[in-house]
Amino acid sequence: MGNALKKTETKSKHLELVPEIKPSLDLYEMLFHEANDAILLVDTDKKKIVSANSRLQDLTGFTSIELNHQDISQLFPSEETAKKSNVRSTLFSEETISHSGFYEDIVLLKKDGYLAFATLSVKLIEPKKAKGKSLAFCILHDMGEKKSMERDLLTKHWELRNAYEELERAHIELKSAQEALVQTGKLAALGELAAGVAHELNQPLAGIMGFAQELQRIVKNQNSTAEVTDFVEEIVKNSVRMKKIIQQLREFTRKSTEDFQNVNVADVINESLKLLDQQFKSRGICVNLEAEENIPSIYCNPFQLEQVFINLATNARDAIEATEKASGKIEIRVRRKPTDSERFIEITFKDDGIGMSTESKSRAFDPFYTTKEVGKGTGLGLSVSYGILSKINGTMMIESSIGKGTTFNLTLPVDYRTHNSNSSTEYKSKESNHG
Ligand SMILES: Nc1ncnc2c1ncn2[C@@H]1O[C@H](COP(=O)(O)OP(=O)(O)O)[C@@H](O)[C@H]1O
Ligand SMILES: [Mg+2]
Repeated sequence: MGNALKKTETKSKHLELVPEIKPSLDLYEMLFHEANDAILLVDTDKKKIVSANSRLQDLTGFTSIELNHQDISQLFPSEETAKKSNVRSTLFSEETISHSGFYEDIVLLKKDGYLAFATLSVKLIEPKKAKGKSLAFCILHDMGEKKSMERDLLTKHWELRNAYEELERAHIELKSAQEALVQTGKLAALGELAAGVAHELNQPLAGIMGFAQELQRIVKNQNSTAEVTDFVEEIVKNSVRMKKIIQQLREFTRKSTEDFQNVNVADVINESLKLLDQQFKSRGICVNLEAEENIPSIYCNPFQLEQVFINLATNARDAIEATEKASGKIEIRVRRKPTDSERFIEITFKDDGIGMSTESKSRAFDPFYTTKEVGKGTGLGLSVSYGILSKINGTMMIESSIGKGTTFNLTLPVDYRTHNSNSSTEYKSKESNHG
């Protein structure tokens, strides 16, 4: 409003000369100052502001005194400032006010050093009308509010995006949890089925065994040829083996998963190996279990621990089979942990199979991770085993490389109830087990 002084002088001079001009001057004053937008008249030769209304002060923070007859360049932001503020709009400059036209998203420098956003309309006044001067009539419409709305919108957009990504992650987790449930259900059904089949087979097998033994007796009495005696003996031997397998299968499916008791780990390992005995023999796999004497017993559920060793043993069997060698070796060692022999036992489970890649090692404990063909692997063996060991504060680590075989190192506390996995540095997190 400071230009009022100057204007009042001019006005009174004119009024003295032509009193009739007063109403027009008042109207001009009102239009100029009451406008919604910032209006400024610029001398484009001298680069000076000739006149500015009070809206320009609202927009830029500069008072009218600071603006009127001052250099226009004070409203020009530098490229550097714009870059720092990450602004990509047109900068208010000599260039923009030297052409008639409409500019959207113009950036001005405010008194406080911040930037103001506006749309600019420039009209160059014909020199004839401007008494030989080169004048530009500029209107600046404040866009600050629109800008802040845009910023808010952008923030909301990112918030929504984050929420969406989180939802997507939750969806994937739910999906894999659902798959896990389906798989667990399938395994349970398979267990039931195996128990049923074992029961069904028991009856006819008893018949076969009975008749075979009877045949054996007859053959003996009739002094038959050695060949016939051998054949009958083979039938009896194989039926006995089948009976044993069926018995083990029935036992395995009947065992409770709730029972915790003090167990001898070497016994549990022996039990687990029995189920796979025939498979090892037929593949030329030699198993060697070496257990230190007087190992303390472990408080755990023997059935679950058995599952761990069955999983390790079947994985070793598959790894050896994959080498296509005629034979293989599994070495199992049970001993007290040398550094803490009272509280922990250590088990190493070593095979001379194909070994594991770095990728396999890092993902082996993930549910459903398998490198085996469909129908052969479920990818659940190690993740289930890991879960069983975690429950009794045990750990499992893999040492392996392609072509060099694999060793699983297990550490089990003698009594998990007296050990908290968080308070002991000896327990490693799952992440550090990878490798
Ligand atoms: N002893 C081993 N030797 C080589 N690779 C192994 C061994 N044990 C596990 N693996 C790898 O880890 C993967 C996951 O094992 P596991 O969870 O038991 O699932 P699955 O045996 O059904 O594939 C296997 O597919 C295999 O790639
Ligand atoms: Mg497996």
